[in-house]
Amino acid sequence: MTTKKILCIGAGYVGGPTMAVIADRCPQYQITVVDLNEKRIAAWNSDELPIYEPGLEEVVARCRNRNLFYSTDIPKGIREADIIFVSVNTPTKTFGCGAGRAADLQYLEKTARAIVEYADEGKIVVEKSTLPVRTAQAMSRILHSNPKGLKFQIISNPEFLAEGTAINDLENPDRVLIGGMETPEGQRAIEEVVAIYANWVPRERIITTNLWSSELTKLVSNALLAQRVSSVNSISALCEKTEANINEVTAAAGRDSRIGAKFLKASIGFGGSCFKKDILNLVYLCGYYGLPEVAEYWEQVVRMNDYQARRFVGNMLAAMFNTVADKKIAILGFAFKANTGDTRESPAIAVCCQLLEEHARLRIHDPKALGNARLDLEDAEGDISYCEDPYDAVKGAHAIALLTEWDSFRKLDFRRIYDLMEKPAFLFDGRNLLDHRKLYEIGFNVYPIGQKALTHF
Ligand code: UDX
Ligand code: ADP
Repeated sequence: MTTKKILCIGAGYVGGPTMAVIADRCPQYQITVVDLNEKRIAAWNSDELPIYEPGLEEVVARCRNRNLFYSTDIPKGIREADIIFVSVNTPTKTFGCGAGRAADLQYLEKTARAIVEYADEGKIVVEKSTLPVRTAQAMSRILHSNPKGLKFQIISNPEFLAEGTAINDLENPDRVLIGGMETPEGQRAIEEVVAIYANWVPRERIITTNLWSSELTKLVSNALLAQRVSSVNSISALCEKTEANINEVTAAAGRDSRIGAKFLKASIGFGGSCFKKDILNLVYLCGYYGLPEVAEYWEQVVRMNDYQARRFVGNMLAAMFNTVADKKIAILGFAFKANTGDTRESPAIAVCCQLLEEHARLRIHDPKALGNARLDLEDAEGDISYCEDPYDAVKGAHAIALLTEWDSFRKLDFRRIYDLMEKPAFLFDGRNLLDHRKLYEIGFNVYPIGQKALTHF
C-alpha cells in the first residue's frame, strides 16, 4: 500500500488535535500540519504544546516525527499532499458588510489561493473549519480558476469535537459527517475521506451526505446545543423568582428520553469559539435568504446568553448592597469551560468588564487560562491582578464569583478561604459547582444559579 499524504492547513484547536488522532490511528498515512504562525509550529514541535487538551500530549508524543510533522513550509506541504484539510480560523467579521454576524472568510480564501498557486496536480480539499453554507461553492470557484486546468474535489467534514474532551470525542465520535458532490468524482472523494476515519470509527457512525447538508449540519448542531443552554438559563431566572430549583427541574425534565439529560446545566452562559459565531452565521444566512422571522428566532438564543451574564452581575450588585465599588472580588475561573485554557467568547470576559465598570477590584485565578485572561482584559481599565494561587485571589475579598467549573475548585479549603475574606463573605456560584449547604454552614452567603440563595441575613 502506498503511503497517502495528508496536509492540514491551520494548527489550531481543531487542526491540531484532529490530525494528532488521525496520525495515531492511521500509521499508513503521513500527516503534515502547517501554519503561518511560526511560534505556534515551534510550540507543536516542543514539549510545551500551544494548546491545553487532556490526553493530547500523549498522542502527539506517540506520533510526532513518525507520521506526524509540523512545519511552516506551506508550498511544499501543498505540492506533496494527496488530501488537504483546511482548518484555518473563520471568525465573525468585525468590519464592513455583515460585521458582527457574517463569517470572515479571508483566511479561508487565502488558503484556497495558496492551494491553487502551489499545487501541480488535482487534490481533494476538505473543509474542516466551521463555515457558512455554500462556502464550498466559493472555494470551488477559486480552486477551479487555476490556469493549470487542475481539478479539485471539495469535501465538507465538519468537526464536532468539544474542547476539554477533544481527544475522546475524536477517538469515539458519535458520528463523522462527510459531504461531497453528487457526481461520480465527488463520491470517490467521499470514499477517500471515509477510508481515513474507517480505520477506527465503526462504518455505521460515518454519515455521508451532499455538500450543503454537511455544511448546514455543523451550524445546526451548534445552534441546537446553544439553544438548549439558553433555554435552561432562561428558566434559571424564573427559578430564582419562585421556589423551584433549576437542578431539580432539569434532572426531572431530562429523564424524558425525548429530551435527554445532557447539556442541561444552568450557567452564566455559553462561551467558546463556535456557538455564538455559528448562530450569528445562521442568522446572517437566514437574513440573506429573506427569512427574517427565522433569523430573529435564532438571534434570541444569543440575546438570552448575553442577558444571563448581565443578570449574574446584577444579582451580585443587588446582594452586595447595590455597590461593588472598591470591593475586591475573587474571580475563580476565566476559561469558557473547564479543562481548557481557551477563553474565546468566555462569559467571564463580560462579567469581569461589567464588574470593572462598577469599579470593583478583580483578583483573577484560573488553573490554565491566566495568559489568555491577561490578553482579553488588556484594554480594560481598572484594578486587576492575576493570581496563580487561588488563596491569594481570595485574600481580603468581599466576594467570590465562580465562573468556570474546574474540578479543582471543589477541592479548595473553603474554611480557610472564609477566614481569609472580608465579612460578610459572598459566594456567587455561576456554575452550580460547589456544595452550597456546606458553604452556608461555614458562614458564606451563597448565591447559586436558578436556586434560592442561602443567606445569613
Ligand atoms: C462546541 C460543540 O459542543 C462542539 O460539538 C463543536 O465542535 C464546537 O462547539 P465547545 O465550544 O468546545 O464545543 O464546548 P461545549 O462543551 O459545547 O460548551 C460550550 C459552552 O456551553 C461552554 O461555555 C459551556 O460551559 C456551556 N454549557 C455547556 C453550559 O453552560 N451548560 C451545559 O449544559 C453545557
Ligand atoms: P480553530 O479553533 O478553528 O482551530 P484557531 O484560531 O485555533 O482556530 O486556529 C486556526 C489556525 O489557522 C491559526 O493557527 C492560524 O495561524 C492558521 N491560519 C490562518 N490562516 C492561515 C493560512 N492562510 N495559512 C496557514 N495557516 C493559517
